[in-house]
Amino acid sequence: MPYSMSELADDVRSLLNAAPVSECSDEICGVLRNALTDESFTSAHLQEREADEHPREILYEDPELGFCICGHVYAGEAIGQPHDHGPSWAIYGQASGTTEMTDWEIVEPGSGDSPSLVRPRKTYVMNPGDAHFYNVGDVHSPKRTAPTRLIRIEGKNLDEVTRSNIAAFLD
Ligand SMILES: [Fe+2]
Repeated sequence: MPYSMSELADDVRSLLNAAPVSECSDEICGVLRNALTDESFTSAHLQEREADEHPREILYEDPELGFCICGHVYAGEAIGQPHDHGPSWAIYGQASGTTEMTDWEIVEPGSGDSPSLVRPRKTYVMNPGDAHFYNVGDVHSPKRTAPTRLIRIEGKNLDEVTRSNIAAFLD
């Protein structure tokens, strides 16, 4: 039986109702992999975009817990600067293509108008079927040089959060 969006939402909701996300992120990554590796799921929810179309679509928003399941479809290169997600966590799931992700460590926390200074800690490639958890405050930067499709689960709708002020520190 194909995996459905309502099954994924139910699985995520059950896990988040049972434990804080910091304790159940591995299990959420596990159920997300069910969706990432289900061809009927990804073809239904991650349809190809033209280069000028908005890459992001909210596929599900939980009315009780506020988490969102989003589709991100990039028609070409998509390179992000180091960032966090403000007060939210996020899980990135790769459905097709690859993402070169870099995790950054905070060298000097920001204050006032001064940004946090960060330096790269680890770079790795996310292949189809891979899912990674980024907790509140985890700084990361994705690099995609060819078309990619992702399913992202966010603790809250990231369209509505303010990200931290971050500046890369390269030595
Ligand atoms: Fe991010």
